[in-house]
Amino acid sequence: MSWGTALVGCGTVGGGTAGILTGSAKELKKRTGMDFPLLAVVDKDYTHARSLGLEPGILRPDLEEVLADPAVKVVIELAGGTGFAKTVVEKALDAGKHVVTANKALLATYGRELFARARARGLTIGFEASCAGAIPVVRTLAEDLVANRILGLAGIVNGTCNSILTDMGSSGLDYTAALKKAQQLGFAEADPFLDVSGTDSAHKLALLSAVAFGIWVDWKEIPLRGLEVVRTDDLAAAATKNARIKLLARAEAVAGGYRMSVEPSVIPLPQPLAALEGPFNGITVQGSETGLLYFQGRGAGARPTASAIVGDLAALAAGTSASTQKDYSCWPDKAVPTKPLADSESRGPWFVHGNGKAAEVVQGPTRAELEALGLRVFPWYEPKE
Ligand code: HSE
Repeated sequence: MSWGTALVGCGTVGGGTAGILTGSAKELKKRTGMDFPLLAVVDKDYTHARSLGLEPGILRPDLEEVLADPAVKVVIELAGGTGFAKTVVEKALDAGKHVVTANKALLATYGRELFARARARGLTIGFEASCAGAIPVVRTLAEDLVANRILGLAGIVNGTCNSILTDMGSSGLDYTAALKKAQQLGFAEADPFLDVSGTDSAHKLALLSAVAFGIWVDWKEIPLRGLEVVRTDDLAAAATKNARIKLLARAEAVAGGYRMSVEPSVIPLPQPLAALEGPFNGITVQGSETGLLYFQGRGAGARPTASAIVGDLAALAAGTSASTQKDYSCWPDKAVPTKPLADSESRGPWFVHGNGKAAEVVQGPTRAELEALGLRVFPWYEPKE
């Protein structure tokens, strides 16, 4: 069976995807028994696509013409953003094409309506690549862990932020130099504010919470603090407790609802999330039956992210993807709309330092009560089996 694909957007991840589809076509056929020919690359600018040596005949700038091609079965949306990308996904679904995307901002914002649109047409939207790049966590949570009530998950899901915090902590680089270095590595969003403000992590946390808990949370309601709240003396204070500060996206099922946040948090070594350095992602999941699980790997980059894209492609073609046709409660249109519990009610544990006090971990007071004492306050994260 031939699953003709069209790529919309041929930047870093698009290039990696084109590279696998064209360069590994024989191996993919051998592993799956199916063909995934790349029939079209739609883009505004073909400089990057041409540099990859793609066959000129597949550079087809007219989206409508490509969508009218019956040989195209799947549209891979890698344009990014929430404007043109939304139109692409809507038009692809209306033209009867399945969609695979890495676009966390798009799905966190419009996931419900796009999934409903796909479901009404018996089509699938694959989004494994949207959360934590190469790490196979979306399908794992949605399908493989279905025997579990997920009690909590926490992740470093933005490589740019982890790279900045690592450099600020270990090489003494200041924030601006560390951000510049991360941008040069090619992992940052087109607008790096989305990374450093925690917004990108909030998009991913909203999607991961859907597949983990079957809840749909408006990402704008997730309490958010970005790297701007971290000072070098905070990193040094954490080090005195043999701990590290990480931008942590966290969701927990607690009495009365779900506590969620994206914020710089203190994690003690040897917790694997504390030890995770550089532009990597790591996620812990607490399952009622499995106990604590830990996933780690490359959360960004051309080939690692393309690996997840091609995995989605093969899964939907094989019919094994937990597609929108199935009634699992984890898909955005089926998940239960939920508001996270108020951040202000959390009673820790907190890592505190400053105002002449040695760093310590406290539990009981609220953040506001501690801040009123002039202390620097961060959540302390130490998952236990
Ligand atoms: N800007 C993101 C990061 C890319 O740095 O992790 C992957 O979503």
